[in-house]
Amino acid sequence: MMSIESAVTKVDNVGELELFASGKVRETFRFTSNVLLMVSTDRISAFDYVLPTGIPGKGKVLNGLSKFFFRESKDVCPNHFISTRLGDFIELEEDMLELLEGRAMLVEEMKPIPFECIVRGHLCGSAWREYQASGKVGDITLPQGLEFGDSLKTPLFTPTTKAETGHDRPVTQEDVVAAIGKKDADYIHKMSIELFDLGHRTAYDKGIAVLDTKFEFGYNRRGEICVMDEFMTPDSSRFWLKSEYRNGQRNNFYDKEYIRSYLNDSGWDKEPPAPNLPDEVVAEMARRYRVVYESITEHSLA
Ligand SMILES: Nc1ncnc2c1ncn2[C@@H]1O[C@H](COP(=O)(O)OP(=O)(O)OP(=O)(O)O)[C@@H](O)[C@H]1O
Ligand SMILES: [Mg+2]
Repeated sequence: MMSIESAVTKVDNVGELELFASGKVRETFRFTSNVLLMVSTDRISAFDYVLPTGIPGKGKVLNGLSKFFFRESKDVCPNHFISTRLGDFIELEEDMLELLEGRAMLVEEMKPIPFECIVRGHLCGSAWREYQASGKVGDITLPQGLEFGDSLKTPLFTPTTKAETGHDRPVTQEDVVAAIGKKDADYIHKMSIELFDLGHRTAYDKGIAVLDTKFEFGYNRRGEICVMDEFMTPDSSRFWLKSEYRNGQRNNFYDKEYIRSYLNDSGWDKEPPAPNLPDEVVAEMARRYRVVYESITEHSLA
């Protein structure tokens, strides 16, 4: 039995920095007028609730994979990444630097574009349910007879709203055009597909199949559109191990889906309070996050 290191589920303050936003998973602090410090905690959310149990090392996986892909993709599309070397920029107590090590990133502040740009290379999740009901995903009619998890000939772009509260709702490309104009709407569509292709290819070479993912974009000070938030993490994507997929296994997810399945089977009615996760589920989820990080980056998780 592996020992369970403790999860970092709270980061209340970083030196004197002012809290900018507290999300379900990340705490963001203002560093300068144009630069934010994003800290990925080990919190995990499912069905819109933050669970009381954290997943040790998860924040480092999110931060590390995002950094890896921001670097890989910078020539395809600009992004918000500045640095993970906090010590070069801020003077902090030794304990605080240690707590933040591997889980914090300085980023350029963006004016968010309020859509979640989802790209699907395989048929699963809500797209699978939609297809079963109507043969379509969004306004695209797909061939008949597709099975759960089948790979799609060309990746589908299925944007949604980015809801402050409640569920995200699918939107059409016309809705995106109405909000930000045709040029920018076309650009984020094109970039979503290109970034998905790059991420998918990179991960697949390392033994991880990316089924779908979500990107967020924003405008920087110069009005340029950049990718922000996270990039191809197990919170924003669905992953399979390539080896298992090739053997026909399509139900063993290496992402948050593992926890969703556990919660579905647990009988929880999805009303608060969210239940605690058993130790073995926490350990297995932590292992899966780590496998994805270590496979793709070829570095061990510190
Ligand atoms: N460079 C950036 N500038 C401004 N906001 C950003 C930037 N990068 C990410 N964000 C925003 O910061 C938040 C990240 O926090 P987190 O992922 O914990 O939130 P969430 O659970 O996805 O959603 P919510 O913030 O609604 O709780 C997201 O709302 C994201 O859109
Ligand atoms: Mg998020």
